[in-house]
Amino acid sequence: ATVLKEAFKDKFYIGTALNLDQIWERNATAVGVVKEQFNAIVAENCMKSMYLQPREGEFYFKDADKFVEFGEKNNMHMVGHTLIWHSQAPNWFFTDRQGKEVSRDVLIERMRQHITTVVSRYKGRIKGWDVVNEAILDNGEWRDSKFYKIIGKDFIKLAFEFAHAADPDAELYYNDYSTAVPDKREGIANMVSDLIAQGVRVNGIGMQEHHQLDNPSVQEVEKTILAFSNLGVSVMVTEMDITVLPSPRRNIGAEISENFTYDKEMNPFPDGLPAEKVRQLNGRYVDFFRLYLKHQDKISRVTVWGVGDGDSWRNGWPMRGRTDYPLLFDREYKPKSIVAELIKMA
Ligand code: XIL
Repeated sequence: ATVLKEAFKDKFYIGTALNLDQIWERNATAVGVVKEQFNAIVAENCMKSMYLQPREGEFYFKDADKFVEFGEKNNMHMVGHTLIWHSQAPNWFFTDRQGKEVSRDVLIERMRQHITTVVSRYKGRIKGWDVVNEAILDNGEWRDSKFYKIIGKDFIKLAFEFAHAADPDAELYYNDYSTAVPDKREGIANMVSDLIAQGVRVNGIGMQEHHQLDNPSVQEVEKTILAFSNLGVSVMVTEMDITVLPSPRRNIGAEISENFTYDKEMNPFPDGLPAEKVRQLNGRYVDFFRLYLKHQDKISRVTVWGVGDGDSWRNGWPMRGRTDYPLLFDREYKPKSIVAELIKMA
């Protein structure tokens, strides 16, 4: 094989997130890579609730429609991201016209409306939905989101039921980050196993896999694959990237140290990644893909969160103006050396 999707054809889908430039085919080079290398796609932003329903009852589907058209035209496995998430949700969702927090019944009804409208529109076309994103914290407790605070734990069950009713054939997923943190792994596994015990249809759990060079360990990720797959659901790698930059959290807010220098800490490689770092990055990709291949019977899809390094959200989070190298293709959309290594491995 000479391209990723061929190499991994009998193992799992190999996917990428698409931004608006790519969905609307404004960048022929990037789109060329997408068509040539990947057989699964997910929209990076345009199917989040703040974009799909910016005001109550006013849906904006142009970008999402184009995404689905692109996927159909190119015969791709499509995932909808994401129906219920505390982030990138419009404020109106949680407040009435006076700005007062809505009641439980009102929020449930808004959830129902949103999920039903969106999932029905793409019924039979979108294969699976990230129904709920990021509901559990790293310590395994429930995130105190508006959904949780106003509705209680049942918001997840309700979201899955609304989605299932709107498209009974669609696969339904729970998606989260840092799933290799033991307490979080356990919290997610307990939450999903409760859902299954209540008869809720859950087809898979997405591990986002936004990694760093030194964290998490492959061993902890493996424990997560096993723990999730033991629940009887499929496991997916949904948003993979590997930042080469120093851990951002270390330098946020009060924790900024006296010797902090912005350039060195926040943007150490503006003109290219040193060979030593390239080796580390490639090593990490190889280690994780080896793990995914080892568990190919449990893993249905591996999706990276963007096509070229220049597209990556990692360049702008938690601060803008970083130059990161977290993906498989460079800023010119040329394959990085890791692509050939992965193809060989498969
Ligand atoms: C990110 C996008 O990549 C950015 O463009 C956007 O500004 C913020 O969201 N977890 C998720 C994704 O589930 O939806 C997030 O995507 C990255 C973290």
